[in-house]
Amino acid sequence: MPNVDNPTERTLAELGVNDVDGVAAEFAKVRERFDRQIALSADEIRNLVPREAWLGSESDPATSLRHFWTGRKSGILTLITDNWLKKAPPTLKGVVGKQFNQLKSHIEEKLEEQRRRIEGETEQSSVARERVDLSLPGVTRPVGSHHLIRQVFQEIEDIFVSIGFSVVEGPEIETPYYNFEALNIPEFHPVRDDMDTFYLDLPKGAPTPLLLRTHTSPMQIRTMEKRKPPVRVIVPGKVYRRDNPDATHSFIFHQVEGLAVDSDITFCDFTGTIEYFVKQFFGPGVKTRFRPSYFPFTEPSVEFDVSCIFCGGSGTSAGGGICSKCKGAGWIELFGAGMVDPAVYGFVNYDAKKVSGFAFGMGIDRLAMLKYQIDDIQVFFQNDVRFLKQFP
Ligand code: FA5
Repeated sequence: MPNVDNPTERTLAELGVNDVDGVAAEFAKVRERFDRQIALSADEIRNLVPREAWLGSESDPATSLRHFWTGRKSGILTLITDNWLKKAPPTLKGVVGKQFNQLKSHIEEKLEEQRRRIEGETEQSSVARERVDLSLPGVTRPVGSHHLIRQVFQEIEDIFVSIGFSVVEGPEIETPYYNFEALNIPEFHPVRDDMDTFYLDLPKGAPTPLLLRTHTSPMQIRTMEKRKPPVRVIVPGKVYRRDNPDATHSFIFHQVEGLAVDSDITFCDFTGTIEYFVKQFFGPGVKTRFRPSYFPFTEPSVEFDVSCIFCGGSGTSAGGGICSKCKGAGWIELFGAGMVDPAVYGFVNYDAKKVSGFAFGMGIDRLAMLKYQIDDIQVFFQNDVRFLKQFP
């Protein structure tokens, strides 16, 4: 449909132009309209589009302008050719042609100028965008560190490795055989009550129940099954029990198991090794003692205590009252241990008459609490960075 606002959609005759001056005046109007539009900013052209029926609606304003004026199918220059030049009376053809050529070169020149200007601006702004300011401070990302429990594991491993032990690790999901039976704890043995744990939901017909290990001791069996004496290993790892959480209990905690078996290991080797470890770990000032205890897989069994590092073994706090950590006893229980019960050797095909050895199982969380004076085991599992940052 012809656009009534656009005179180039009509012939010169329809516009009432029939002489040279009239032709010049029509071309002047077109040129003036072009000059007005080419001088507009991109935003102004965008605003103009809905109002200015002359203008097309390309997404990019500069392209829209170029198509509108020079588009081959229905650009203004094509309309002038078709409606004004071709349909001009023979007397005016020459002047229309001359005016048309002038208008055409003017429009093309100005559009080219505009194209070069836009290209330059785009280049400049992308250079500015991509420029790297080397004087800006870098992005600092917080650097993490090992968890205190991991650090304590490492300290313990270093001490034992220095006296000839090697480090082995084992599964956290165990069978009752390794967790209990092979450690001389048959079904219905009362000691199982102290080590109630979590059982896995298994499909019916599974060959054996599976549980989360209650201690690292199953690795005594797994190690002796694989190796012949002499054996000297420590086993760091996570263990699980259905214990109610409080300041010294967690249902997930950490242990380091120790096992030494050879042809001539005595109780003296055992006490000497443990004392060496404790003095390395807590410092030379700490005193140690053994108390008789009971574990089905060691005979004799002991509990190993250290003098209270909070009150120096006096049982009295700095303020004169009873030391709250050792409850006035002057001693703190550290871990269970003992000489390997000969019954255990039967499960791993060792000759109980030819070998002897000792084993121990330390609670690492409590060891860390003592050494670093932490009064609640739960902080190890909360992962509060304010706590973690204190042990970089
Ligand atoms: C045992 O687990 C034996 N396997 C240790 C052992 C190994 C004895 C080898 C003889 C030979 P016990 O149940 O006492 O023993 O646990 C050992 C240590 O784990 C305790 O001394 C304590 O420090 C820690 N512990 C036990 N239960 C918890 C708990 N719920 N939360 C945190 N630590 C615990």
